Amino acid sequence: MSAMYKTIEARLQEAVRGVLPDADVSSVLVRPCADPKFGDYQSNALMGLAKARKLNPRQLATDVAARLNLTDLCERVEIAGAGFLNFHLKRAAVEAALSEAATSGNLFFEKSAHPRTVVVDFSSPNVAKSMHVGHIRSTILGDSLARTLRLLGHRVVTDNHIGDWGTQFGKLLVGWKQHLDPAALQADPIAEMERLYKLVNQLSEADPAVLETARQELVKLQRGDEENLRLWREMIALSQVQFDTVYGRLGVKFDVTLGESFYNSRLQDLVRELRDRNLAVESDGAIVVFFEDIPALKAHPALVQKSDGAANYTTTDLATLAYRLETWQPDEIVYVTDGRQQLHFQQIFAAFRKWQPAARMRLAHVWFGSILGEDGKPFKTRSGETIKLSDLLDEAQERALKTVTEKNPDLPEAERREIARVIGLGAVKYSDLLPNRQSDYVFSWDKMLALNGNTAPYLQYAYARIRSIFRKASLDSQTQDPTVRIRLEAPPEVALARHLLNFGVILEAVAEEYRPNFLCNYLYELAGHFTAFYENCPVLKAEAESRASRLALCDLTARVLRQGLEVLGIETLEQM
Ligand code: ARG
Repeated sequence: MSAMYKTIEARLQEAVRGVLPDADVSSVLVRPCADPKFGDYQSNALMGLAKARKLNPRQLATDVAARLNLTDLCERVEIAGAGFLNFHLKRAAVEAALSEAATSGNLFFEKSAHPRTVVVDFSSPNVAKSMHVGHIRSTILGDSLARTLRLLGHRVVTDNHIGDWGTQFGKLLVGWKQHLDPAALQADPIAEMERLYKLVNQLSEADPAVLETARQELVKLQRGDEENLRLWREMIALSQVQFDTVYGRLGVKFDVTLGESFYNSRLQDLVRELRDRNLAVESDGAIVVFFEDIPALKAHPALVQKSDGAANYTTTDLATLAYRLETWQPDEIVYVTDGRQQLHFQQIFAAFRKWQPAARMRLAHVWFGSILGEDGKPFKTRSGETIKLSDLLDEAQERALKTVTEKNPDLPEAERREIARVIGLGAVKYSDLLPNRQSDYVFSWDKMLALNGNTAPYLQYAYARIRSIFRKASLDSQTQDPTVRIRLEAPPEVALARHLLNFGVILEAVAEEYRPNFLCNYLYELAGHFTAFYENCPVLKAEAESRASRLALCDLTARVLRQGLEVLGIETLEQM
């Protein structure tokens, strides 16, 4: 992709900004019109500018429109309503933008001219526990945000902040030392660790002496006892194997995995500094940061040291933030967790701003709702247990295999399994990304695996269908004739073309608002526009020039579908 590539909205935006030399023009945006009857693109920025400068907005819009030199791109620029600018593109300009994309690597989005460094903290499961369905949203959302940011040219650091420290290790150590079943550990280490934890938990409820032993084991671990450290490391290593298996299946990669324990050595100094600077104070033996100046947090001081002297999740997260700042100088840190941690992150961000007021980076808690069963209650197995992520993925692939086998009984089994893997994993991921992340959603196998509707299989099928057009035409190369000229004639062709042009705007919105669902809906609409086009406009049977142009449109659609699904972490198939 060339660095000089400019999208149409960027060119319009530049033109408007160019005739407003004295204003703060960074807020001047040009966006696609929601309703094509008003034009192709629109800007509402002049109304805000006029207000700030106490000008008449329509007058300002008129002055700006008169100075714009957009004869290469626009048929006309209209002033509408209270001071909107509506841009009506020349058909030739749209055709040129599409032809350019068809013959180059560009695909309607730009690499950022101002790349940001963004740390994405996601997935972050806890050691000695299996990854369950609750981890899927963080993992899938975080991965797709990281992919989108990377595609747009930002520097991304993905960090898996695993839970590898805490009071649970006292009980786990007692369990390991007194009740370990080596054969069970060998067979399924996580299940055995979960059993041990549950067992010691029960025992200590019945017998305070067990609880006391667990406490002592924990203190030994914290003081660096060799035996306990060795066992603790083994628990982490065994858990990491399981995490890695799941990440491997999901195609999720982390640049670093710095768990909570990594920050232990920083905690004492951190608390001391907060105290020395009077940012934290003693309260009933504990050390606390108060937020008198923040109404929402006034009643919620942050505890940074418990009365027994122990640091906690908050202390660790503050140390983590400081480490990230020192190590990567990020412009932005994004935390992807469920909505129950909202208060925690408000406290972390507020405490950090007090502690390091000069730090300018954007801090975002990207939170999400729960996954519900079809009964509307938290999603569980029939016997009421949490669903292991690996079991869920197995079931997705098995269910997909059934459908694939029904449709293509003659394909060799290995091929059917590969298709089912791509469809099954794609379905689970997409159904998780499609809802507004802040709402709960109902997990439904039938819905997510349906070939019709807003699903991954539908989009994967749309992609494979386009690829089959090329196979039918015996055009095996994906790249087009470098001289192809796209001509837009029929209305469905124009509609498809306009939609293709919006890919970059959507990617930007996903990255800006941390909402991959925008992209899901965009791709679904794209598939719809393609269907309308394909049903109304002959492609392979069209006369030569039209045929080449329409094939190029098919190819652009396939490329955008594939690229879009790829940033959602979803694979495509050439044939389904
Ligand atoms: N391990 C935590 C949990 O399971 C999530 C950690 C999220 N990241 C963070 N920096 N606090 O709830």
